[in-house]
Amino acid sequence: MYRRLMEHLTTAVLLLDGELRLRWMNPAAEALLAISLSRLKGQPLPSLIDGEEDIGGLLAKARDEFHPFTQREARLTLTTGEVLTVDYTVSPLGADELLLEVEPRDRLLRISREEALQTRQETIKVLARGLAHEVKNPLGGIRGAAQLLERDLADPGLKEFTRIIIEEVDRLRDLVDSMLGPNRMVRHEPLNIHKVLERVRALLIVEHPAVWIERDYDPSLPELSGDEAQMIQALLNVARNAVEAMTEAGTASPRLRLRTRARRQFTLGAERHRLVCEVAIIDNGPGIPDSLRETLFYPMVSGRAEGSGLGLSIAQSILHQHQGLIECDSVPGHTQFRLLIPLEKRHD
Ligand SMILES: Nc1ncnc2c1ncn2[C@@H]1O[C@H](COP(=O)(O)OP(=O)(O)O)[C@@H](O)[C@H]1O
Ligand SMILES: [Mg+2]
Repeated sequence: MYRRLMEHLTTAVLLLDGELRLRWMNPAAEALLAISLSRLKGQPLPSLIDGEEDIGGLLAKARDEFHPFTQREARLTLTTGEVLTVDYTVSPLGADELLLEVEPRDRLLRISREEALQTRQETIKVLARGLAHEVKNPLGGIRGAAQLLERDLADPGLKEFTRIIIEEVDRLRDLVDSMLGPNRMVRHEPLNIHKVLERVRALLIVEHPAVWIERDYDPSLPELSGDEAQMIQALLNVARNAVEAMTEAGTASPRLRLRTRARRQFTLGAERHRLVCEVAIIDNGPGIPDSLRETLFYPMVSGRAEGSGLGLSIAQSILHQHQGLIECDSVPGHTQFRLLIPLEKRHD
């Protein structure tokens, strides 16, 4: 009966012998560690999960001192290469038996956070689009009327005012167009992410020659499927923010790093993907202002006086159109934006 109870628990439970070899684990543990009991049984656990701390040492200490303990936010590297953040509790059951309960932290937190974030972003996007359409409709009429007026003005000195009307209408139209985001369908063509990054790099070198741009590419990454022009736009929006932030803050030796990696068994939103392409854009600038953290990806949120606040919102919608997303971690001196794009369709 106890075994049946264990088998239905959603908490991962492992039973180790005195030599820290795996005696048994429940299906929740198999799912978490992405390995079956039959493959792992009898093997020493510390050799299979590689942590930041010395897990073997901690387990042995609990066994020798016969004292339970809980380790929070431990990082484990699984045999699949995936890194998990977990809390785990070790309870010695007897001289030669240890009970290990493992609870994942980041995946759960991240999935729920991403879902909430995506829903919020969708809502804001729908609102912004509706508003943009309403603003755009009368603009054509205003522009046309100003042109007619300009033609019939007797006093050329008054033309300055109709010019202003026309120019401001054009500016508003461009703003509204960028709020509406990419309006054509995304193409799905073979796309080489490194070619895209090289384009972005070439543009930035011209714009900001003082910034040192470093490349750290994973040449084994296969081709993606997507829209090259839009992907250039997304990456440029993110990378340009980084160099602008560094330039404006007067960062000493400003550095931008463009890094690509393949991530296996990666969950984006609620979907698990076999292979995901990660493009990280890392800068050593001032970091994201605290006041922007929660709303960073919303349209019209900007930390700069002349900013439109549309760059990241557009980049995020382009990523969504590619079933991907953008994440961000930032502390002063180290800001990282990660663009995650699925390479292989989810397994259903
Ligand atoms: N790498 C970065 N370092 C510091 N701040 C950043 C970085 N990326 C974005 N930001 C902040 O996020 C804001 C929003 O960016 P964005 O949506 O592109 O709008 P904009 O660039 O027009 O302000 C920026 O104004 C800036 O304050
Ligand atoms: Mg920007």
